[in-house]
Amino acid sequence: MPELASFIPAIVEIVKNARDHGRSIGFVPTMGALHAGHLKLMQEARRENNFVVVSIFVNPLQFDRKDDLDRYPRTLAADMAVCSTVPVDLVFTPSAAELYPREQRAFVDVPGLTNHLCGAFRPGHFRGVATVVAKLFNIVRPDRAYFGEKDAQQLAVIRRMVEDLNMPVAVVGIPTVREPDGLALSSRNKHLTAEQRQLATLLPQMINEARSRLDEGERSASTIREALEPMFRTHADVRLEYFEIVEPSTLAPVERIDGPVLIAGAIWVGSTRLIDNMRWPGGQERN
Ligand code: PAF
Repeated sequence: MPELASFIPAIVEIVKNARDHGRSIGFVPTMGALHAGHLKLMQEARRENNFVVVSIFVNPLQFDRKDDLDRYPRTLAADMAVCSTVPVDLVFTPSAAELYPREQRAFVDVPGLTNHLCGAFRPGHFRGVATVVAKLFNIVRPDRAYFGEKDAQQLAVIRRMVEDLNMPVAVVGIPTVREPDGLALSSRNKHLTAEQRQLATLLPQMINEARSRLDEGERSASTIREALEPMFRTHADVRLEYFEIVEPSTLAPVERIDGPVLIAGAIWVGSTRLIDNMRWPGGQERN
């Protein structure tokens, strides 16, 4: 079993000891409910570093809806079992009081990158993500940190934060892990009923259909959007929140597609919100 610590001074001490012994530090920040997507991040961290730290913290600062925070799955025993298979060296499980002992007054904002896609629908979300990741980086001081490409906007925000604030950490993006029917793995998939689980595949189907239309030569984002939106009008339990074609690093919406793009979408299935994205052309790339 990996070492488990909940207090910041213990984490600082253990990681310092590893570093003093010449080990490089790989870090995987998570909110728990670990699945095969997280496992891939950890395995990559294990492959590239001598000491691997995973944090498990459901960060209240990044939730724009209290019901989403309250029902976010918390599965520490199962998560520890996943960490031990990698194996991870250290698991950091701070309480909210440990990370936010008093009212947080300093925040990290990355405007511009957060005005559209999920940012337009989840006010304050990326500020909460960037702030907690900055805090975790300051505590763990990793050499490399690993994030899934499924959360493409989160990854872009973190990369920009690290560059703009000269944080001494390499940010590594890892391709999305999917179920055989194409659904991207997500901790929120646990909320879906069997019927909703079926409906959820509409999201990767829509993105794949957009890629096919691009392959066939269509170049107008609005034509593609108008053709695909009706896919979500067939069932009362599913709703399209957004569908965007954006430039992969700035995430600025693209109307005429003349180069590589990211196709991203968010849907609601019942009361569960799911996101996904794919690159065009070609598969997803590392870094
Ligand atoms: O992707 C997540 O699980 C979270 O947004 C993160 C990066 C752990 C910050 O809370």
